[in-house]
Amino acid sequence: MAYQFSLADVGYLAGPAGADALNLAAALAVTDATLLADLTAARRFAGGHAAAVVETVRLRRRAVGKLGERAAGWLLTDEALQQASPWPVARHRADRLVAAGVHDVTCSIGTDLAALNAAGHSPLLGSDLDPVRLAMAAFNLPGVPLVRADALAPVSRKLVVYADPARRSDGRRITSVSTVPSVAELDAAYPDRPPVLRLPPGIDYDDLDRPGEVEIVSLDGAAREAVLWPDAFAAGGVRRRASVLASDGTGWQITDLDGDGDDGTAAGAIDEWIVDPDPAVVRAHLVRHYAARHGLHQLDPHLAYLTGTAPPAGTRAFRVLDVAPYAEKTVAQWVRRDGVGTLEIKQRGTPVIPDELRRRLRKAMSKDTRTAATLVIARIGDAATAYWCRADPPAGAG
Ligand SMILES: C[S@@+](CC[C@H](N)C(=O)[O-])C[C@H]1O[C@@H](n2cnc3c(N)ncnc32)[C@H](O)[C@@H]1O
Repeated sequence: MAYQFSLADVGYLAGPAGADALNLAAALAVTDATLLADLTAARRFAGGHAAAVVETVRLRRRAVGKLGERAAGWLLTDEALQQASPWPVARHRADRLVAAGVHDVTCSIGTDLAALNAAGHSPLLGSDLDPVRLAMAAFNLPGVPLVRADALAPVSRKLVVYADPARRSDGRRITSVSTVPSVAELDAAYPDRPPVLRLPPGIDYDDLDRPGEVEIVSLDGAAREAVLWPDAFAAGGVRRRASVLASDGTGWQITDLDGDGDDGTAAGAIDEWIVDPDPAVVRAHLVRHYAARHGLHQLDPHLAYLTGTAPPAGTRAFRVLDVAPYAEKTVAQWVRRDGVGTLEIKQRGTPVIPDELRRRLRKAMSKDTRTAATLVIARIGDAATAYWCRADPPAGAG
């Protein structure tokens, strides 16, 4: 279980003795294998605070990967770091918020506040119920006013309200009541200024039926969040937007006002390439818009797999080498014929479980792991179809 920081820990870590101890501890290895030895060493210079010091060193190293060098000197908890938005995502959201003053009503250790600050929003206010996280935020963001408050009892009057409620861990389907506080509670607390909300990317947003725009944001190919923008922030009548970001700073967007949506992109026969759109596009229900923009069409009207003569520039895609009704025997023949040692399996709309199929195909696989193939299995109409492909770029390239 992760270390539970106390207010006393934060007071120590934020003071001069804590700073000295953290400097000394920065030289420790802090791996699973060295943890006990690290704690023994840290006790010599941090006494009863050794565990808090060593945990902070461990979390800071992880935080730099997610939040950049700015977090190298932050105070964090394991859970708060897991909940924090990756920096490019936080910054993208902060840049979209054209408001001047913002109140982050669930500010935790202050990641989103830091991004709002970097984007130039002023004045800023942060609040949270958790006193330890607030004390950490005060250390991480000197100069930003913070107050301990319940998000459901407003302590600001004019600032734009931003909330990133915690996720409930129970229940598999993510709906309007899956967060603490819930969307309905937050909306009721701020009737005159509906909050900008950051929610899990899998949220069933049609269910929420909230006026404004839903933006699904992905980073490096993984969906990271759904942002509900109230009407005042939904530019030009856009209702759904996919924002596809990459850690190298590149990115693109598509909205429901782009492309030709439901017209002119009927599903049809397989072409030279299969394209699996970014999860932000799929979750924003913008697959047809994306297909229209890139001259592609769906393999089946119910599936997100697209096909065409050329993939969109810079997009990983799958050149189709063979097509057959799906049967394990056929796939095993393809694997043997091509001497494949690395097999990527993708499926949509069928009961096939890729890891289990790969295990069953092990006997047919070659030892040469440099020879790779991708098997795409898709339910077309009522039957599963197998597409034997070469990925470009190959799996793991990059
Ligand atoms: C997902 S985290 C927010 C992460 C944050 N946006 C960041 O940048 O790191 C959710 C936060 O909501 C806080 N919280 C939960 N219920 C709350 C309430 N009723 N009022 C204020 N904060 C609350 C939790 O303590 C937690 O810090």
